[in-house]
Amino acid sequence: MADSGTEGNGTLSIKDNRTGKEYEIDILDGDVIRAMDLRQIKVNDDDFGMMAYDPGFTNTASTRSTVTYIDGGKGILRYRGIPIEQLAERSSFLEVAYLILKGELPTQAESDEFVHDITMHTYVHENIIDLFDGFRYDAHAMGMLISSVSALSTFYPEAKDVRDADNRGIQIRRLVAKMPTLAAFAYRHHRGLPVIYPENELSYTANFLNMLFRIGGRDYTPDPVLVRALDVLFILHADHEQNCSATAMRVIGSSEADPYSALAGAMAALYGPLHGGANEAVLHMLSRIGSLDNVPAFIEGVKNREERLMGFGHRVYKAYDPRASIIKKTSEEVFEITGRNPLLNIALELERIALEDDFFVSRNLYPNVDFYSGIIYQAMGFPVELFSVLFAIPRTVGWLAQWEELLEDSEQRIARPRQIYVGSDVRDFVPMEERG
Ligand code: CMC
Repeated sequence: MADSGTEGNGTLSIKDNRTGKEYEIDILDGDVIRAMDLRQIKVNDDDFGMMAYDPGFTNTASTRSTVTYIDGGKGILRYRGIPIEQLAERSSFLEVAYLILKGELPTQAESDEFVHDITMHTYVHENIIDLFDGFRYDAHAMGMLISSVSALSTFYPEAKDVRDADNRGIQIRRLVAKMPTLAAFAYRHHRGLPVIYPENELSYTANFLNMLFRIGGRDYTPDPVLVRALDVLFILHADHEQNCSATAMRVIGSSEADPYSALAGAMAALYGPLHGGANEAVLHMLSRIGSLDNVPAFIEGVKNREERLMGFGHRVYKAYDPRASIIKKTSEEVFEITGRNPLLNIALELERIALEDDFFVSRNLYPNVDFYSGIIYQAMGFPVELFSVLFAIPRTVGWLAQWEELLEDSEQRIARPRQIYVGSDVRDFVPMEERG
């Protein structure tokens, strides 16, 4: 991790009008000041010092990172410096996983070793199947997946030794390898079907599709176009810097919890409809709208704040999400095999109206990654309950890269924000019989 040097970056002068005192604060990395530098700004010696108030961390950098670069204004996304468009076009998911985790694209030998390692770790302990059997038949796949990842921490107690880099490497490989297996087992439980064990001669995504959709001894050969489309979708979802779930991963990881427990927490953050659960919410929204005739009334509802246009808007992107553009292109290839998803027309009409309407234009609301992903997933045969799971599998790579970076960063400490207390002043306990 590079030093946060201050040389040549200039300073910021602050005048406290309460006291008339002036302070000079170093500017780092272009436009950043250290929040702790504000602490010296005090009215008197007993004063705690100035803090920054930032609900939702909208303007707070929590880390220096080398993993993912986003320019939200220009719609740019790069992993380790390489544009997402090039990776989606020319790479494979496991190659991108290596890039994100290790910082460089692998040589052929490194790639062979990595793919072999991941393939050899795909099996899970048989007791995990008993865990799935404990869930009701209609349990949501994401709820089951979160529980099973958390349970893995009890199978690998040595994972607690998070300061040992070799040990971390083993747990990272295990997690990347086992996520599709756990996800498929959750799905098979939901469908009341026996599990299909991993097949080592298949690729990462082909093996996942096989574990999901193969029935008994009948041969199932996933269509190569769909395998490639899923690989591209996995590449697009592999990391997205300091979003809600990556932040959850880092916050839990900062207490030195094992990676299985931290990852279960990150997955829980992803599950919400404002984050990775949005693809599922988009499908429900499109089904509810039902036909092109209902689109204008729905848009009116959004503008009157009775509805939210799910799959639109982003904290960082104020331009078209580059992942949404790639997904739109990939969907054409998928629909040639599967037939067109009828919900696509509704989505296209929503986008057309929204991109012309001042409500959306003035707020820079564009389709995000979740707007079109669900439509492809549905066409490929994935049930809606599996959509956030399909996000969690590739994002595991990003979460783990962020977790490693955190543990190797000497500036990081246990995450512990401050608050502004606005509750009651001190008051006496009132016995029950005297309470009104
Ligand atoms: N539909 C209608 N209005 C919206 C939407 C939307 N989808 N998103 C934002 N707005 C409005 C919002 O009401 C606000 O208007 P005003 O300033 O008049 O009150 C303005 O736009 C700014 O929105 P915000 O909620 O302050 O923005 P945020 O950065 O806090 O939230 C977001 C970002 C992604 C949570 C939000 O845009 C949203 O809820 N989108 C729908 C859910 C969604 O698609 N989530 C997936 C995000 S991308 C993938 C991922 O992270 O997993």
